[in-house]
Parts: sequence; structure tokens; C-alpha cells
Amino acid sequence: MNVRLSGPWTLLATLLTIMVACTRAVHHQTDTDAVRLAPDIYNEGPLKADLFTVYSAALKGHRHHRMTLSKFRCSELKLPQDPPRPLLIAAPTSPGEYPVVLFQHGFTMRNTYYSQLLNHIASHGFIVVAPQMYLWAGSDATAEIATAASVVDWFSVGLRDALCQRVPAVEPDLKRIAVMGHSRGGKVVFGLVTGVSNTSLKISAVVGLDPVDGTGVGHQTIPAILKNSPHSLNLKIPTLITGAGLGSDGRFLFPACAPKGVSHDNFYSDSSAPAVHFVAPEHGHMDYMDDDCPGVQGWMSFCLCTNGPSREPMRKFSAGVVVAFLQASLLQDSTQLSKALSNPSAAPLKLDTPELYGSVVDITNSFKASV
Ligand SMILES: *[C@@H]1O[C@H](CO)[C@@H](O)[C@H](O)[C@H]1NC(C)=O
Repeated sequence: MNVRLSGPWTLLATLLTIMVACTRAVHHQTDTDAVRLAPDIYNEGPLKADLFTVYSAALKGHRHHRMTLSKFRCSELKLPQDPPRPLLIAAPTSPGEYPVVLFQHGFTMRNTYYSQLLNHIASHGFIVVAPQMYLWAGSDATAEIATAASVVDWFSVGLRDALCQRVPAVEPDLKRIAVMGHSRGGKVVFGLVTGVSNTSLKISAVVGLDPVDGTGVGHQTIPAILKNSPHSLNLKIPTLITGAGLGSDGRFLFPACAPKGVSHDNFYSDSSAPAVHFVAPEHGHMDYMDDDCPGVQGWMSFCLCTNGPSREPMRKFSAGVVVAFLQASLLQDSTQLSKALSNPSAAPLKLDTPELYGSVVDITNSFKASV
């Protein structure tokens, strides 16, 4: 008898293997309790993280950059239903159910430029999903916000399948979702939580890494998010804003990358309680990104903005406070966030005194109130 399987049987066998793996995953105990107590948020956490890309035909001409792919052993997954945009996913490899974080890249940047930041966050027990939104964009962000909403909606359709093919015992906890964005991506996620576009899944926390709402005072880009009135955004969910002090400095003849009047200070002061604000005065707007950003946009990221002495401290610090904030807002453990607020000198770079509007208890309680 010939035991070699022919085409359709091979496919069926593959599908069965995936189904069995997924079924097993559902019964796995979560490692989350161990993860929450990770002693050092500013370094990679206790879990090994995997980075991989998911293909989407929706963005024609896009290829995830080869150098990043080989460095992180990525492979392009194909799914029965494409996500609305190509994705870079960072996920723990240890069995468990983990909260999900949408990550929006900055203006004209690539999702792969943030691989070190995303890897750091994932190693503390979060699944981070970073879409590539476009290859080039204009100033109006309305469509980008709508696409970001459709990526969140896709989580309930395809995220489980995508994880299953790559990290089979890992489950997305779709009751615990946060959105996070850098620069214009920060504006995009604020668009999601202020109702410019709504998502079918509930978002329980929002993070802006140096969010930017335009090119200067009186020059907010469409749709304007900031109202320039204290605590006017009525977000009803915890907010974390980080800022890089050098972001408001221009470079050569170029305008500042994060101009005063439309940047992190303004997002923080417009945010409702509870909100947290960390500022690193000696680092720059692009210092959240990888040390190695291949391609023209990567070159721009080093050239157009005023940078700090090196990116690593800013990346470790920001990934760390994001982890602390997500532990408090999504997992109701405020240990690390309280420490980060009370002891800024433990961070791997110089920080201004952190600001808190409302209380840490409000941050942990807000989630219970919303279930
Ligand atoms: C989103 O939901 C809010 C609150 O229900 C609503 O006010 C807003 O109009 C919605 N936005 C859109 C684009 O439908």
C-alpha cells in the first residue's frame, strides 16, 4: 500500500494537527501569575518571546524587511482570512492566555522598526500585534484610524488561528485589550478610544508613546484629537503617556518631530483620570525604535529628529513602564507601576518626576468596573 498522502489529504492532516494543538491550548493553565511578579520591568521578562509576521494582500507591494526577518527568525504566515493589514506579532512562547496589545507605528515608519520594544513587552506576558498601516501616507489620519479599528475587530476572527500556527499553546485574552501607538500612531489609538472609529471588542487601556496630533499649535491634523482643555477627553479608561524631552527640538532646518502644543504634554493634560505621564528629558522622539532600522524611513528616523545619546535606555524604559501600566490596568497588579512612579531613579535613564492624575487604585479598579 502506498502510504504517502496526496495533496488534499496532506491539507486535511495539517488542519487536524492545528485543530488538535488549538484544543490542547484551551486547557492549558496560564503562567500569568509568575509573569506579573517579574522583578525588573526595564529588562526583558521571564518569558521567551517569538516575533513573526502575518501576510495580508491588502497592502500591495509591502514586504517585511529581510534583515529584520532573519534576525528574529520570522516567517510569513498565511491564514484563511487575511488581517486588514500585514502584521508583526510578538508573543510569549510559554503556554497561557495573555492580554492583547495593538501597536500603531509612527508616521511613514515600519512596524519592524519596533521589534526590540515589542519583544520586550511580549517577554513580560503580553501579545503585541503591530500592523503595517501603509507604505506612504498623507496628513489626514481618519482612514488610518478606521483601519486600526478593523485590525482590532479582526482579533476575534483570526488572531487565535495566527497564534496557533506559530505558538500553539498561546491564547489571546480578548477581554483584556489595550491600544498603544508611537507618534502619529499615538494619535491613531486616541482616535480609537475617543470614538473617531469604534471597535467591536472593548479597549481597556490606552498608551501614547510621544503621541503627536499635528505640526504645531493651531495646526492639528485631521481628525483633531486634542481639545486643548484640561481633562476634556473623557476616556473612561486608564491612560499612559510617555514623552521624550528632545522631541520638541528642531534639527537643521527641519521642524520638530513632536512640536510643543500638540505632543505628549498636551495629550496628558487633556486626558481624563486615571492618567500617568513619564518624561525622559535627554532622549529623542525616535529613541523608541530599534538600533538597526534598515531602509529609507529608518535612515530618516536617525536623521530628521533630534536623538538622545543612544536608543537602548529609552526603549528599555518605555517598554518597562508600558509593562507596569498594563499589569495595573489589565491584570490589576499595580506593584510595578507604583514602584516606577515612586522611584524614577530605578529607570535606565534620567526621568522628570512622573505625574499621576487620579490614583493607581483607580487604574486597577477601572477594569473591574468595565467587565
Ligand atoms: C462610537 O461610539 C460613540 C459612543 O457610543 C459614539 O458617540 C460615536 O458616534 C461612535 N463613532 C462612530 C464613528 O460611529
